Formats: sequence, C-alpha cells, structure tokens
Amino acid sequence: MQFDVFTLLPEVFPSYLETSILKRARERDLIDVRVHNIRDYAHSKHHTTDDTPYGGGGGMVMKPEPIFEAVESVLKLDPAGKPDFPIILLTPQGRVFNQTIATELSQHPRIALLCGRYEGIDERIRQHLVTDEISIGDYVLTGGEIPALILIDAISRLLPDVLGDPTGAQDDSHAMGLLEYPHYTRPPEFRGHGVPDVLLSGDHAKIDKWRREQALERTLRKRPDMLEKAELTKDDKKFLDKLRNA
Ligand code: ADE
Repeated sequence: MQFDVFTLLPEVFPSYLETSILKRARERDLIDVRVHNIRDYAHSKHHTTDDTPYGGGGGMVMKPEPIFEAVESVLKLDPAGKPDFPIILLTPQGRVFNQTIATELSQHPRIALLCGRYEGIDERIRQHLVTDEISIGDYVLTGGEIPALILIDAISRLLPDVLGDPTGAQDDSHAMGLLEYPHYTRPPEFRGHGVPDVLLSGDHAKIDKWRREQALERTLRKRPDMLEKAELTKDDKKFLDKLRNA
C-alpha cells in the first residue's frame, strides 16, 4: 500500500517511520510512505505557502496553488479528472477516525494525506481537491502531521503480513467492537500480585470464555457506548444482564 503525504514539515515523519513495525513493513515493501514537501511546489520568489485571510482577521491561510500543484503533479491527476483513491485532508472538521474507518481505508492500494498547518487552508482545497476529511478527535492540534502518522500506523497494521503474529489485528480492542481482555506474562507473582488461575490452567475453552467475559465487562464499565454496535451472542447478552443487575 502506498501513502503519499503532503506537508510543510516533512522532517516530522522519518523518525517514527524508521522504527519497529512500520520500519519492517517498509523494508519488506508491504507499505511505501512518500513524504512530499508542499513548499517545493510554491513557485513564488520566497516559496510562500500561506497568506493573510480575505475579509481580515488574524492568522494565516494556506494558499491553494502549491497544494493543488503538489497533489496533481505527484498523483498525476489532470485538473479535471477524479482520482480513483482517497485524497484525505486531516482536519478537526473531518469525520472522527476509528477502527471501522481504518479498515475501510486499508482496502485501497493508495491513499494521499494532506496535512493542514496555520489557522486553516483555502476553502477551494476542501471543495475541489480533497475527497475526504478526517479528524483524530475533538481537540485541535497545531497541524495534521501527527494525525497523518496515526492513520498510517492504524491502517498499516491491518495489512496482510505487517504484524508478526498470524492472528494479526483480529483480537484488538475495537476490532471485535469490544475492548480487549487483560493480558499477563511471567512472573506468576509480582510484588504480591498474582495472575488469574484460569490463565495457568491450560484449559483453552475456559480461557476463551474468561477472556470474552473480561472483554464484555471492561467494555460495559469503560465504554458502554461500544456495546450498542458490538456483535453479541445470546450468552454475551445474558452475561451483561447479570453484571448490570449485580
Ligand atoms: N489538525 C489539527 N487538529 C486535528 C485533529 N484533531 N484531527 C486531524 N487533523 C487535525
């Protein structure tokens, strides 16, 4: 899968992309992340990428020309043509990113990510260039670079072979519509705190049941809103009713 990132701060990206799972995924050609500096497409004398807002007011606005030129030239779009993959603007005004959107985006062979800076971007970019707008949550950052890395990370780990574990991302928190069950590893006792007996029992049916119930209980306590959309069996519902009535 190829990610094309458009940014005024390309230096933000390498350190994270050269680490751990994303580094390995890149080395194995499972993902290709290309970071493009919008400033390289600004043809004015000082390579200006922003200007004052029409109508007055504070702050600066990202100019349309360098961004259109960067995206059109890298993606080889003709100005009238429609791209056949998403061009995503990272903005607090977008739809709020979640695991379902990550899964949906992981189906595309290529995605373009446009990182906003300053107070905003010229509205014509939103109207005539981007195909989607995504926010990573209801708070405002200084730019779209960290949100772009978050999308790259969440999407990449869903791609085949990126995670070492063959069961991959399927047991993740959110993948099943529930929070994940608790994990333990050695030692069996740490500072007087033990490990639930069932995990040491070797009885895999019992362990699976315990994990499912723990996931349900955690979700009920911490994120009850998620239960409305989760796929629940009859036994799950019975177990949740028991907890609610306890
Ligand atoms: N840029 C600034 N804040 C953002 C947010 N919350 N999500 C995506 N892009 C942003």
